[in-house]
Formats: sequence, C-alpha cells, structure tokens
Amino acid sequence: MVDVLLGLQWGDEGKGKIVDFFAPYYDVIARFQGGPNAGHTLYVDGKKVVLHQIPSGVFHENTVNLIGNGVVLDPVTLQKECDTVASFGVDVKKNLYISRRTHIILPTHRALDKASEVSKGNDKIGSTLKGIGPAYMDKTGRNGLRVGDLINKSFTTSYIRLRLKHQRLLDNYNFQEDISSWEEEFFEALEFLRQLNIVDGEYFINDKIAAGKKVLAEGAQGSMLDIDFGTFPFVTSSNTTTSGVCSGLGIAPQKIRDVLGVTKAYCTRVGSGPFPTELNDATGEELRKLGSEFGATTGRPRRCGWIDLVALKFACMINGVTKLIMSKADVLDSFSELKVCTGYKIDGEITQVVPFQMTRHQIEPVLQTFAGWNQPTDAVKLSTALPTTMNEYVAFINKYIGIDISHISNGPGREQIVIL
Ligand code: GDP
Ligand code: IMO
Ligand code: MG
Repeated sequence: MVDVLLGLQWGDEGKGKIVDFFAPYYDVIARFQGGPNAGHTLYVDGKKVVLHQIPSGVFHENTVNLIGNGVVLDPVTLQKECDTVASFGVDVKKNLYISRRTHIILPTHRALDKASEVSKGNDKIGSTLKGIGPAYMDKTGRNGLRVGDLINKSFTTSYIRLRLKHQRLLDNYNFQEDISSWEEEFFEALEFLRQLNIVDGEYFINDKIAAGKKVLAEGAQGSMLDIDFGTFPFVTSSNTTTSGVCSGLGIAPQKIRDVLGVTKAYCTRVGSGPFPTELNDATGEELRKLGSEFGATTGRPRRCGWIDLVALKFACMINGVTKLIMSKADVLDSFSELKVCTGYKIDGEITQVVPFQMTRHQIEPVLQTFAGWNQPTDAVKLSTALPTTMNEYVAFINKYIGIDISHISNGPGREQIVIL
C-alpha cells in the first residue's frame, strides 16, 4: 500500500519534518513531482538540513528513497545534496534510487526560467528560478532529456541540439546569460549521477508494493500551487496533488490508502499571486518573525496571514485527504487573538467556493475570531496537556473541514509532535 503526504496550502507547510517523523513506519519514501524548487527542512542530530530533491526519509537507515519519474532533476543540486547527506554518514549508494524516466534540468532551463520571469515584468510568477517550468515544458513538448538517456552514446549530441533550441528561445526573449560555468558543473554532476542507482522506478516501486512494503509518497510545493487546481497562473508546473502520485511514480490509484495533508496553523505564501488572508501589517510581520518564515530554497521573506479554511477545504476535496496534520501551532503561542477565514466576500456576496481565477476578483476574507492560548506549547508531549483554547481552535477547523486533525506539530524538531 501507498500513503501520500502533501502540503495543502502554498508550500512550506513543514512536509519535510513530518515525513522525517513518519519515515520509520515506511520502507520506501518517494518524491513524485517538483524538483529543486522545493526546500524541505529537517533537524538531524540537532543540525538543520534542507533537502531539495532527495526524499525526506534519507536519514533513516531502513528506509529507501526514490526520486520518481514525475520529478525534474537538477544533477548539480543533487550532487551537493548527496554530499550534505553523506556528511551525516548516509550512504546514498545504499538508500537512494532514481527513476530512468526522470527528466533532467539543463543549465539553459534555468536561463529560460529567468528570461521568462524578466519578460513578465510586474506579472512575474516569483519563480524560484530553478528551471522547473522550462524543464516541464520540454517534457510535455516531448523534447526533454531523461536520466535513462545518460547511457546513450548520443547523449551529448542530443544535449547540444536541445541547448541550441533553448538558445534560439533565449534570443527571442533578447536575454543573455553566460551559462559556461553552469555547464561545467552540469557535466561534472552528470558523471556523479551516472554512478547512482538508476532504476525502472515503476517496477521498483510496484515490486516493493507486491512484496508488502509500505510506501510514502512525499509531495513538494502545496495544493494551491498545483498546475491545474492552484491559483493559476501563479503556480508551479506540476500536479502537486494526489493525482500526481499515480503518474509521477507509476502507481495505480487503488494502491493509495491514506492521504495525509499538512496545513500550517496559519498560512504563508512565497512568490507572487493571490493570497486572500495575507496580513500586510504588524501581525503579519509577527507571524514571519515567530515562524522564521523565510524561504528554505531562496531565502525570500514569506508572505504571512491567517489560516484560510475555504482554500483548505478545497485542497482536502481535491486530494481526498484522510488525515489532517497541523504544523507550526507553537508559532501562535503568544497571540492573544487568532482569526480564521470561513468565507470569501466577492462583490458583496459571501461564498465558500474557490473562484476559477482568484486574480480576477477583489476577495475580502470573512474572518472569525478566536481567543489565543497565550502560553508556550512547544514542550507539550501529550494531547491532554494542550490548552483548552487550542482545542477549541482545532475543533472549529475539524468541523469546518469535516476531517479531524490527527497530529499537531509544535516545533521544528523531530520529536515535537502531539498525537491527538
Ligand atoms: P516544507 O517545504 O513543507 O518541508 O517546509 P519548509 O522546510 O520549507 O518550511 C517549514 C519551516 O518551519 C522549516 O524551517 C521547519 O524547520 C519549520 N517547522 C516545521 N514544523 C514546525 C513546527 O511545528 N513549529 C515550528 N516552530 N517550526 C516548524
Ligand atoms: P516546498 O516543497 C513554497 C513557488 C514559487 C513561485 C511558484 C512557481 O518547499 O513547499 P517555480 O520555481 O516552481 O517555477 O515557482 O511556486 N514555489 C514554492 N513555494 N514552497 C515550495 O516548495 C515552492 N516551490 C515553488 O515561490 O511562487
Ligand atoms: Mg519548503
């Protein structure tokens, strides 16, 4: 069987930490989409590690990790990450596997990402500039190079042909970027990649399932950044939702059991695009400070606001969430008052529906106020020790969404989680 763990907001919900917590209960952790735009933070032996492409189960000896075909892989970032995890004593030759069908991010994909953003001016997406969009465009445009192509003698010829095509596009954008140093690193990293365990990911994972092994599919980004269901065009270029698991790993839908959805106790977004509950005031600033809300990949300050139950319920519906996990509850410890968004007021009408194109409307969030708990909760181990006011906040969310929160994360550490 396969369980899925994914983000229900605009990314950075704390997926890495939660996967690291659950990893001992699984035999395989698999990434099914996204690429180095992701930054998943874990604490290992008290040290902070940010993973971009390697699944967050990598620090557990008995867990194998698969980078699935749905991922777009940057070999340079991968090599650096492998060095980082090796410094913790992890042997990636033993516990990391990569699908042959995984598409490769080229240096020119990164240049194209930049060119595209520059051309959009004020309407830019706020991309992480890791080449994600252009790499997925080459996948759906049937031009991309895949990890399995590395063994072909003609790989370099194919690379040069694709680079030429990219160069013509860059010329069209009237954009210049010296990629020579990126290219040098890229070819070095390809040599490294060739030494890793490259497998037929779909057989690898289905053989594991057939052998009764437990698989956890680890999402990147968040549901509101999904290419189909997110706040288009301010989204990423993959299906970040449960549906991406089947196509991104080669797993049949009936193999999927639980869908664990992670939401912050409040909400953040990095990059441009609609964010109805955003707080451009001292409270937003306070959330950013207390939650250390700065991008794990780009270091950009994250936009902060109250939890948006309209978007959360929508994300639970699209994903078929069976278990809700609330992260960063401790960040709210010192707030005397909390708000939750229960509806959107659009042109004077209140709705609980996420509009087709959020950017078209002036959305005013309908907010309900709750008393804060005003006490530290980061050391709480048992649900019975949680403040009543927190239980009330949680009970309201449970009722609105129709799914019960099963775990509350109350700190960045592996052990800081309360089972409800
Ligand atoms: P991801 O992309 O979903 O894995 O999340 P990120 O790692 O980008 O961002 C989450 C940030 O919050 C990281 O700095 C984590 O260390 C931190 N974090 C995760 N869970 C908690 C929590 O429950 N409380 C607090 N205070 N920090 C948390
Ligand atoms: P994790 O896995 C938060 C955002 C970018 C931008 C948009 C498109 O750590 O939650 P892209 O680089 O994909 O072209 O950027 O998506 N974005 C993320 N925001 N967390 C992420 O990943 C993100 N990955 C992409 O900021 O707005
Ligand atoms: Mg992140």
